[in-house]
Amino acid sequence: MFKFNFGDNIDEKEETPSSKVTTHVWLKSEQIEPATENDAILKDIISNCEENTFQYKSQVLKYFSTVDILNILRTSDECSLKNNLSVLDADNDHSDLQTAIYEGGLKIWECTYDLLQYIVNNNLNLKNKQTLDLGCGSGLIGILSLVENASFCTFQDYNAEILKYITIPNVILNNDAYLNKSNFYSGDWNSFVDLINHDNEEKKFDYIFTSETIYNIDCYEKLHEVFQKLLKKDGEIYLAAKSYYFGVGGGITSFKEFMEQKKIFQYKTCWTSSDGLKREILKISFS
Ligand SMILES: C[S@@+](CC[C@H](N)C(=O)[O-])C[C@H]1O[C@@H](n2cnc3c(N)ncnc32)[C@H](O)[C@@H]1O
Repeated sequence: MFKFNFGDNIDEKEETPSSKVTTHVWLKSEQIEPATENDAILKDIISNCEENTFQYKSQVLKYFSTVDILNILRTSDECSLKNNLSVLDADNDHSDLQTAIYEGGLKIWECTYDLLQYIVNNNLNLKNKQTLDLGCGSGLIGILSLVENASFCTFQDYNAEILKYITIPNVILNNDAYLNKSNFYSGDWNSFVDLINHDNEEKKFDYIFTSETIYNIDCYEKLHEVFQKLLKKDGEIYLAAKSYYFGVGGGITSFKEFMEQKKIFQYKTCWTSSDGLKREILKISFS
């Protein structure tokens, strides 16, 4: 076994003659405080980026153009910003995912729209509920929960830059008062769960929403732990994903098998796509 002594946040893979050793150093989770109104980049985003809308039935959610946000980051006078942003590197490389470096939060993935429509169509009652938008990217699902009067929403994304320059501006765009009912965490699920681990049942989540987060089988264990440690006893998880992620290996089928082996949760397929690559929404609760 090939090992570095870096601590818990490292994936180690056995070296075989036919496989290269892949060692991923996962970023530690941190709470991200929203910038103040005077922050130059935030001001620039809010004043100059094009607004898009997602409209479904009576709900209208707004989000800023990612292309415009990236242009602002690229031309920012703050050199340190230009040199250090993994989201800019990923965009320059036309890369959707770079394991443990950039996990895909820049674009809005298809299953986000499935889950938004599912929540609206099924009148999920989120009033006074505590919600977690896990792997939030744009944050549209968490924002919908706030529009639907959730009492509090936690937004989590692996990349702090996504939270600072995409999720938080989108929350502000919809209603800046929502910042009083939200918090934001970056970093790996392993350390996220330790950082916000709530022994107190009252502080756990009534609903965990997560879209397109099961593409990497190596992350199933820590994702499952987030579910297990942060969901209220009678809480519900809605997980939206593709049946199979070509080129990466994970997907709904293998995640169902993983849950069956663990025997902690029960699940029900509550929606399946009728077009294109098969997509599903699972409703998951404690067995
Ligand atoms: C493909 S993106 C999906 C973004 C968004 N949910 C959507 O549907 O548009 C996957 C998300 O999962 C999160 N993620 C994946 N692996 C993670 C890990 N090991 N720790 C923390 N977050 C992770 C990333 O933050 C990323 O935003």
